[in-house]
Amino acid sequence: MATITVPVVISDAELKLLQTLVYQECGMHFDERRIHFLQDRLQRRLKACSLDSFYSYYRLLTSRDGKIELSSLLENLTVNETSFFRNRPQLDLFQKVILEEILHRKQSRRDWTLRCWSAGCSTGQEPYTMAMQISDALAYYYLRNPLPFEMPTPKPLIPPPWKVEILASDISYSALRTAQEASYSDLQMEPVDYGFRLRYFDKLGDRYVLKKSVKELVHFDFHNLKTEFLPQRNDVIFCRNVMIYFDEAEQKRLIDKFYRCLNTEGYLFVGHAESLFGLTDKFRMIHQNNGTAYQRIEATV
Ligand SMILES: C[S@@+](CC[C@H](N)C(=O)[O-])C[C@H]1O[C@@H](n2cnc3c(N)ncnc32)[C@H](O)[C@@H]1O
Repeated sequence: MATITVPVVISDAELKLLQTLVYQECGMHFDERRIHFLQDRLQRRLKACSLDSFYSYYRLLTSRDGKIELSSLLENLTVNETSFFRNRPQLDLFQKVILEEILHRKQSRRDWTLRCWSAGCSTGQEPYTMAMQISDALAYYYLRNPLPFEMPTPKPLIPPPWKVEILASDISYSALRTAQEASYSDLQMEPVDYGFRLRYFDKLGDRYVLKKSVKELVHFDFHNLKTEFLPQRNDVIFCRNVMIYFDEAEQKRLIDKFYRCLNTEGYLFVGHAESLFGLTDKFRMIHQNNGTAYQRIEATV
């Protein structure tokens, strides 16, 4: 195969074709501001595939054997920026207000399950932050609301009979692989304070590795948010800094899907620069101390 050294000339119409394909496949919308990024990543993929025309690349992408290349292209187009404890006011709202409300409500119904979903989890910092916060919230809740169940020794992270399940999904296989390793550098650990490091991480060489008990709370899986088959029966969904890459029509579709993926009175958390304002009337906003969340509105009978 020849090595391609000069950039392949791409016409506006060809770029438009790719833009449409990407939108149809994963909902990401490349408008004028981001079209250069799409062009740059396309050149990289052409080089990696040793192809010298857009036509041959497009044919590959849309062929039966093109699935692997399509997922490589999508992976190259995603922005995986994330961090532990991203948007603290919102996480405070999650831990101190929303979790507290859910635990009370569930306990009164003798429902001891808590199911959360990090949709677009990138390299794992978001779902692991949720796992640490839920563990702390449950321990604190237990102190104030002891249950008539014997506590096994050693004391488990999640006090029985509670069962916690955190699903974390992404469209990027490489991000999911990194997330599953649960091993982070000093720089990535900067937002994690002393107490959390001591309780939830082991130091292995120069890396911080999540303890098995926390890691086990999180289950990683591939899910493309563009599809209809998404995880159901969630009490909480975090989908932060993902919708920002979608256009309005796709955002509306996704919010509708999240509504259906949530349990009654469930909560949706979106990113700092995102909002449900003007996109739906199926959620009510909760805003406290600079933190924002949205709760499902239930139809009255
Ligand atoms: C900027 S990161 C946000 C990570 C994390 N939620 C946070 O706020 O820190 C966006 C993530 O969304 C994922 N993503 C983009 N489009 C997606 C889609 N259609 N389905 C699933 N994940 C998607 C990307 O792969 C990326 O990991």
